[in-house]
Amino acid sequence: MSTLTPLLTSRWGDGRAWTLDAYRRTGGYQALAKALAMEPAAVLNAVKDSGLRGRGGAGFPTGVKWSFLPPSDGGPRYLVVNADESEPGTCKDIPLMMADPHSLIEGVIITSYAIGCHHAFIYLRGEVVHVYRRLLNAVSRAKAAGLLGQSVMGSGFELELTVHAGAGAYICGEETALLDSLEGRRGQPRLKPPFPAVAGLYARPTVVNNVESIASVPWIVANGADWWKSMGTEKSTGVAIYSLSGHVQRPGQYETELGITMRELLALAGGVREGHQLKFWMPGGSSTPMFTPAQLDVPLDYDSVAAAGSMLGTRALQCFDETVCVVRAVSRWMEFYAHESCGKCTPCREGTFWLRSVLRRIEAGQGRPEDMGILQDIPNSIVGRAFCPLGDGAPSALTSSLKFFRDEYLQHIEEGRCPFDPAASYLFEAVTV
Ligand SMILES: Cc1cc2nc3c(=O)[nH]c(=O)nc-3n(C[C@H](O)[C@H](O)[C@H](O)COP(=O)(O)O)c2cc1C
Ligand code: SF4
Repeated sequence: MSTLTPLLTSRWGDGRAWTLDAYRRTGGYQALAKALAMEPAAVLNAVKDSGLRGRGGAGFPTGVKWSFLPPSDGGPRYLVVNADESEPGTCKDIPLMMADPHSLIEGVIITSYAIGCHHAFIYLRGEVVHVYRRLLNAVSRAKAAGLLGQSVMGSGFELELTVHAGAGAYICGEETALLDSLEGRRGQPRLKPPFPAVAGLYARPTVVNNVESIASVPWIVANGADWWKSMGTEKSTGVAIYSLSGHVQRPGQYETELGITMRELLALAGGVREGHQLKFWMPGGSSTPMFTPAQLDVPLDYDSVAAAGSMLGTRALQCFDETVCVVRAVSRWMEFYAHESCGKCTPCREGTFWLRSVLRRIEAGQGRPEDMGILQDIPNSIVGRAFCPLGDGAPSALTSSLKFFRDEYLQHIEEGRCPFDPAASYLFEAVTV
């Protein structure tokens, strides 16, 4: 368990892996040939049997999601790949698309074949222009080689693939906001139901899946569901990419079987930076409750992380050593959520604004004794009352930090300064509540 299992990342070391030739030399598009010789339902069942769970955050079983599409009525149905990747700390989809774009394209074609889609989309985060160019190039090469277009590999199966660059908004990673954005509207979440499987893009049946989920599909088709299930844990099968960042010796993407522990991952990454100790870490991105060294041996699979009080999310493991002020870290994340809140619902729009304001003044040494109560109360007005999961996730880091580091908040308020950076008072304007 404590070793790397490179599959999706296996080509990343080759500087030319992004070319069609290099991809084909290493077995690329063989899974597609195999899939096209199968019935679409058999491909869908293979993914369902594999137990693959969505890699975009929620961990919903991928094959089950595909099977929610209603029977064909002869009209269009769509696959939309969620390549928005904006959760702080998450950095796996962008390197995957940059290093190995054809693995995603092959996954898109196989998935489209399985669900009966003839026009698929990749919705890419707008800022990554270099990845946009690479994807456009890879799609045009695939088309020229007969892997896309009117008859994929001469099979008669027709597929068009559009790469769309968004304008750079975190909320456009939420699947229904993404669909609105793709349709040319302002990216804000839709009321569910109806779910995208029933009425998604242009009100037609639509599957939305993460880049890593779709790039896993060729591996499953090529090697079989049992092979995939032989890796990982019973309910979190296969391999996944863990992204380590922050105060570790060798930050980066580590692909292993699901269920590895943070202690094992840290050993692979050379440990915490020399001379320092781990203070806290985020298991699944900044929307998930933080952990401390006490959780280093929790298996990083969906159920074990949930049982330990957090979420596996996107496996964005951000590490912070003892030099980091937890109030500052939480305050930065709250700045992000207040900025990225789409404003559609009051609990999130107002709640993130006020949490940001209170955190700012505590960090600046102007906190008041009653602020501790405010920091406890406002999340209760957001979580469970927000329109979409952005609001539910926004206070996670704050609430968990109050559980583990309450004294550090109190120290800021009582001493009227940040113990880590007394100059912090000059960095922020005081916000009067
Ligand atoms: C605010 C917000 C941002 C999200 N950003 C992303 C993202 O960038 N990429 C992604 O795949 N899923 C993101 N999601 C989750 C998607 O809504 C959706 O669950 C996911 O794309 C489904 O794919 P999967 O089943 O393959 O995981 C986000 C959700 C929320 C609430
Ligand atoms: S929770 Fe936040 S991001 Fe989601 S709809 Fe409400 S305001 Fe918009």
